[in-house]
Formats: sequence, structure tokens, C-alpha cells
Amino acid sequence: MSRSQRVAVITGASSGIGRATALRFADAGWSVVLASRRGPALTELAEECTARGGRATAVPTDVTVHAEVQALADAAVAAYGRIDVWVNNAAVSVFAPSSRCRSTTSGGCSMSTSSATSTAPAQLSRS
Ligand SMILES: NC(=O)c1ccc[n+]([C@@H]2O[C@H](COP(=O)([O-])OP(=O)(O)OC[C@H]3O[C@@H](n4cnc5c(N)ncnc54)[C@H](OP(=O)(O)O)[C@@H]3O)[C@@H](O)[C@H]2O)c1
Repeated sequence: MSRSQRVAVITGASSGIGRATALRFADAGWSVVLASRRGPALTELAEECTARGGRATAVPTDVTVHAEVQALADAAVAAYGRIDVWVNNAAVSVFAPSSRCRSTTSGGCSMSTSSATSTAPAQLSRS
């Protein structure tokens, strides 16, 4: 299978580590599905990924909303037929005493669980 057929979903793609990760996948010839809340930033990134030779789809998504994560997984499969890698990057860095981080940490766990359950069917369908 050529790399151009491989598909990566990247959450938190509109800035920072997620954006850089998306560009690295595009440079390597992967198709990328870009997710975060800010649609215009995703569209601009999709254009940059495409200019580098990859295929890209922007899917505005709030990863705290399970239905939106499910829609992201569905959009990836609809566009490219498969999901090979899911990068659970969307979140925020928190620098505070652990007693004050509990709700944020729980949110992060919830995001990861939501993403995993949404992508499992797409992954399993290939095995
Ligand atoms: N930078 C570091 O030194 C460092 C170190 C250790 C760990 N990390 C972790 O690496 C990850 C990325 O860090 P970063 O520095 O690249 O952060 P960043 O530049 O602030 O990017 C965060 C990304 O997450 C997205 N995001 C936030 N909440 C979201 C939500 N509810 N739904 C969808 N997307 C959401 C943001 O996009 P929108 O605003 O468009 O939604 C943005 O694209 C974070 O999990 C962070 O905790 C970073």
C-alpha cells in the first residue's frame, strides 16, 4: 500500500503540535483529516497540506462532544475509506496544583475514550 493511501486523523490540528504533526504527515504523503473547533484555521491548514502534495479534509470538531467525534470518524471514512492513525492531540496544557487539575484531567480522559470508541469500528472493519 502506498503512503498516499494511508490516512491520519489529527485532533487539535489548528495550531502547535497538532498543526506541525499534520504537515509532517502531509509531507510524507499521507491523507490527513484535520480536526479542531476553529474551521477557518483548519481550512487554511488543509490548503497548505494539499500544496505539499497530500490530500486533506477539514472537519470542525469539538472533541468534548461525543457526537462530533463520531462525525469526525465517519467523515474520515467517507472521504478516504479508512483510518490508519488517530492522533489524540487536542487538549490544553495546565500548570497548576493537581488538586486544581482534576476536572481538566477528567476531560482529557473523556476525549481519548470518546475518540477511541468512535474510531474502533473503522479500524475493525479493515481487519
Ligand atoms: N507544548 C508543549 O510543550 C506540550 C508539552 C506536553 C504536552 N503537550 C500537550 O500537547 C497537546 C498540544 O499542545 P500544543 O502546545 O500544541 O497546544 P496548542 O497550540 O494550544 O493547540 C491546542 C489544540 O487543541 C485544539 N483544541 C483545544 N480544545 C479543543 C476541543 N475541545 N476540541 C477540539 N480541539 C481542541 C485547539 O484548536 P481549537 O482552538 O481550534 O479548537 C488547538 O489546535 C496538548 O494536549 C498539550 O497538553 C504540550
